[in-house]
Amino acid sequence: MKKITIAIDGHSSCGKSTMAKDLAREIGYIYIDSGAMYRAVTYYCLQHGLFTEDNVKLDALQAAMPDIHISFKLNEQTGRPDTYLNDTCIEGEIRGMAVSSRVSLIATIGFVREAMVALQQEMGKEKGIVMDGRDIGTTVFPDAELKIFVTASAEVRAQRRFDELRAKGDDASYESILENVKERDRIDSGRAVSPLRKADDAIELDNSLMTIPEQKAWLMEKFRLCTI
Ligand code: DC
Repeated sequence: MKKITIAIDGHSSCGKSTMAKDLAREIGYIYIDSGAMYRAVTYYCLQHGLFTEDNVKLDALQAAMPDIHISFKLNEQTGRPDTYLNDTCIEGEIRGMAVSSRVSLIATIGFVREAMVALQQEMGKEKGIVMDGRDIGTTVFPDAELKIFVTASAEVRAQRRFDELRAKGDDASYESILENVKERDRIDSGRAVSPLRKADDAIELDNSLMTIPEQKAWLMEKFRLCTI
């Protein structure tokens, strides 16, 4: 069967990654979490002291870009790809609050976006890929055959992130997570370069009241309709 490109965009913590990973596994496509790439750059900045109190040392980051190599490797145990920075697995490190509270700032930087988009386009050039993010259907793969735009209320998303972090032993409060979710929405939708917006030809899904199996079935059906 002819392979297609699937772009899944939407707000933070709305379950895009879960949907995208499950679909990719089911249909035998490669899954790429583009947010993990911005998180990896953020983690690099934390490690190398590139943050000032409320900003980033832009010149130093720009000079460091050629030293930042991001890749994904399948984790045989989880069956899902882990994120690597310069050959070190940083999958756990990039999900905590230290990275989450700074990543939107990194994602506003033009030269960072240019480098990430080029890498994402390279990863997807053979098609057969499910990529999730904010600008996949608008900027990275404007010609994707299937585009989905996922939303859910900020409160529902904060609760999901809270449950996820708690399960991993992180004791961040619900209030701080809700604040972070709203702040990231504001930055993601308001930034000058590639702001979060629904592509004109994307199908919208509000999954506030849906279970994971319901979302999975919904997405499989959209894939099926797209490939018959
Ligand atoms: O999906 P996520 O929460 O892991 O994304 C982390 C951050 O990166 C979030 O602030 C939005 C940003 N991002 C982006 O600007 N473009 C993408 N394609 C993916 C993520």
